Amino acid sequence: MPSVTNKLDLDTPAVVINRPALDKNIEAMARFATDHKLKLRPHVKAHKSPDIARRQLAAGAAGITVAKVGEAEVMAGAGVRDIFVANEIVTPTKIDRLLAMSPDVRLAVALDSPDNLPLLSRAAAAAATRLGVLIEIDTGLHRCGVPDARAALELAALVADHPSLEFRGIFTHAGQVYGATSVDQVTEIGRLEGTTMVAMAERLRSAGLPVAEVSVGSTPTARISGAVPGVTEIRPGNYVFYDAIQVGLGVVAEERCALRVLATVVSRPASDRVVLDAGSKTLALDRGAHGTSVVQGFGRLVGWPGMLLERLSEEHGVAVLAPDAADGRLPRIGETIEIIPNHACTVANLARVFNVVEGDRVVDRWPVAAAGRVD
Ligand SMILES: Cc1ncc(COP(=O)(O)O)c(C=O)c1O
Repeated sequence: MPSVTNKLDLDTPAVVINRPALDKNIEAMARFATDHKLKLRPHVKAHKSPDIARRQLAAGAAGITVAKVGEAEVMAGAGVRDIFVANEIVTPTKIDRLLAMSPDVRLAVALDSPDNLPLLSRAAAAAATRLGVLIEIDTGLHRCGVPDARAALELAALVADHPSLEFRGIFTHAGQVYGATSVDQVTEIGRLEGTTMVAMAERLRSAGLPVAEVSVGSTPTARISGAVPGVTEIRPGNYVFYDAIQVGLGVVAEERCALRVLATVVSRPASDRVVLDAGSKTLALDRGAHGTSVVQGFGRLVGWPGMLLERLSEEHGVAVLAPDAADGRLPRIGETIEIIPNHACTVANLARVFNVVEGDRVVDRWPVAAAGRVD
């Protein structure tokens, strides 16, 4: 059955990126960073695409952030030369893989314990390099990170004892913001993220430790914590795309969402239900990693406000008509539906390629080169 509305003539399900919207998101965050004299170090786990990383760097990013050594390897292979692994790297295998990228790449890693310090130090010495270290501070997410200034001081003092390690500063990620239920809460979490980190940096400096970087950021908080004087760097990731969670949190309006999934209606088995060819293997079952309560269903069906994408199985998405839907209309079999996913980053990770679109034309295809690698 040929599609009725799919002007792009893409087979579905397909992940589509609106290039003008993407570029606008990249430029707006770069401008915020410049205006506030901040370094922008985007987290590329959001897109896992060297093509997008290159656009971010061309727009002024100082370097990139990654979550995994595997992402760092792909990005380094694509020519990125300044990479912060915002994660604790604790095994010899991973540390060796990381340092194999030096000296071509200026590297830094997260640290929140003295336990892996000797491994990092020895490997950096063996590679004849100085590995950058940023101490992770827990500002409320309660994931990794030292809990307070005393612990940060002790750890920073230990790092300073290792000549092959370079203590660069402190970083945090206030991911608990994804559990916020109002714009006021988002603002409060962002403000606290910034002020806590600046106060922490001052404590370390007054103990004689050189804190060059005070690095913060999530997409919802980057513009808030980044505006706190004393913060030096922001690391938003999702902002290149935005998604239904960001819209629900009040971060942006729907039209800023640059990544969309195209799906086809494959069945209309009841007067209030259609089935799409995009399920959890395309859209992911993500409703927000940290208790998000700002989304309904599994994605926004663009142009169909009366319909809810209620359930997903692996290759089926079941959309139902809300009882109060104004006109009771359902899309036809074969019709293309555009979906703004709840969480664009998990959708990107499931995709092999981004179909890059301008207007009604596919203008490029960018491989999601660092996706889906379990390492
Ligand atoms: C350490 C760290 N920094 C930055 C980010 C980027 O945040 P966001 O996904 O809200 O853009 C993340 C996201 O998980 C993160 O874990």
